[in-house]
Amino acid sequence: MPPSPPWALPPGRLAILSALVDEQRGLIDHLQQAQKVAHAGRNFWLGTLDGVPVVLTVSRIGKVAAASTATLLIERFGASAIVFTGVAGGLAPGVKVGDVVVAQGFLQHDLDASPLFPRYEVPAYGRSRFECHAALSQQLAESVQAALAEGWPAAHLHCGLVASGDRFVCGAEESRQLQERLREAGHEALAVEMEGAAVAQVCADHGLPFAAMRTISDRADDTAHQDFTQFVQTVASRYAERIMRRLLQRMGAQH
Ligand code: ADE
Repeated sequence: MPPSPPWALPPGRLAILSALVDEQRGLIDHLQQAQKVAHAGRNFWLGTLDGVPVVLTVSRIGKVAAASTATLLIERFGASAIVFTGVAGGLAPGVKVGDVVVAQGFLQHDLDASPLFPRYEVPAYGRSRFECHAALSQQLAESVQAALAEGWPAAHLHCGLVASGDRFVCGAEESRQLQERLREAGHEALAVEMEGAAVAQVCADHGLPFAAMRTISDRADDTAHQDFTQFVQTVASRYAERIMRRLLQRMGAQH
């Protein structure tokens, strides 16, 4: 991977968002000048991590919860960029449990306003894909690469499209059909989850940089629910902590 171009965070706080507490558990323990603000049924943790002003929170599962939380992060807590850290189901053949996907873009695989608009297109936006911020994603990918080399040398980094929908994909046949429908519309998705496209759309509305990493917890197949539960409880927070702190150290060095 070529070295990333210099990129500084815009003034404000970096928001670190996950759907579940286990996806970012270790990070709150390292927060300095920590301040907890309860709002709209969520806890928002303000402070600094590795010298970077941050706000951490958990959206809960699904696109509506994610969009609502992203909006609060921006409008109420001064987020100037959002990074999502969480888990996903692997869709593309080589994307295995324990690998990490850094999203280049998102689409909603359950959005279908046809025949008014082409399948997957977000009405009034004229597009189905929302791209992630290239430089922030590159910083994130380099942080993933370094963390994997140190802690999980057998795991691979993948960069590409991630599909989001309000459905836990838990069946080999369902997963195959999902990929086939996406492919017919010209989209090759690496992984599936339930929040990213919503956050990407909110960030696009507000003109904010967005990046996302997803550790693969399952293969979206018949055992996905068991693999997911076990992975989230035992492994996910360790990935998030190692990778996000590497990203923050890079950013802190630029502050
Ligand atoms: N997040 C993690 N695994 C998932 C799956 N199989 N479907 C949807 N979201 C997920």
